[in-house]
Amino acid sequence: MFTVVSENSSATFNWLMTELMKNPQVTAKAQAEIREAFKGKKTIEESDIQKLKYLKLVIKENLRVHPAVTILPRACREECEVDGYTIPYKAKVAVNIWALGRDPQYWEEPETFKPERFENSSLDFLGNNYEYIPFGAGSRFCPGMNFGLANIEVPLAQLLYHFDWKLPHGTNSDDLDMSEMPGVSVQRKNKLYVIATPYNPPIEG
Ligand code: HEM
Repeated sequence: MFTVVSENSSATFNWLMTELMKNPQVTAKAQAEIREAFKGKKTIEESDIQKLKYLKLVIKENLRVHPAVTILPRACREECEVDGYTIPYKAKVAVNIWALGRDPQYWEEPETFKPERFENSSLDFLGNNYEYIPFGAGSRFCPGMNFGLANIEVPLAQLLYHFDWKLPHGTNSDDLDMSEMPGVSVQRKNKLYVIATPYNPPIEG
């Protein structure tokens, strides 16, 4: 329980910062949205987050390419047939969320980080579309989804509102290290170093 709560959220957050560093145009668009929506505010509250449509798309796209849980282990309850293969009773089946999220059969340019792909799409987090199941699907669906999302949306919005971000001198966004470390949650293999510069929003009044 403690592992899924902290590890899944921290893995997701690490990858989000990585993708934002790798895709400065996405960062600029997300920051413009946040700074326009909260112009004149000293800080961001949880209730403000609903205004941030693009930020939510960024989080959605990040969970497509970097699902914190990559494999769902299952056991077959009765013999059945899938795509012409007989799956015997009790067979162990691994549902690969990572591969589904990058399958070119379902996704245009799957390796490109493009939050806009979700703009006019009905795909949600609820496990109704099997090509996109970052919180699982069915009876073992993640019960912490709403908490997990709020846990990412609020701090991310605050970090993007209050700071500008860049990579350390000599690091290029094109050759950012994207190595993964397998585990309960898929974390970055190596640390991500970023430089934060405080941004002082113009305060009204
Ligand atoms: C971004 C954050 C998170 C992601 C991506 C995530 C994803 C998942 C996934 C894929 C599963 C497996 C579902 C299945 O087997 O079908 C799961 C299970 C679970 N998650 Fe989350 N999770 C996150 C955050 C959280 C949080 C914050 C909590 C608790 C507050 C939580 C509690 C649980 C529990 C208890 C299960 C086991 C459910 C069961 O086996 O019946 N998760 N999560």
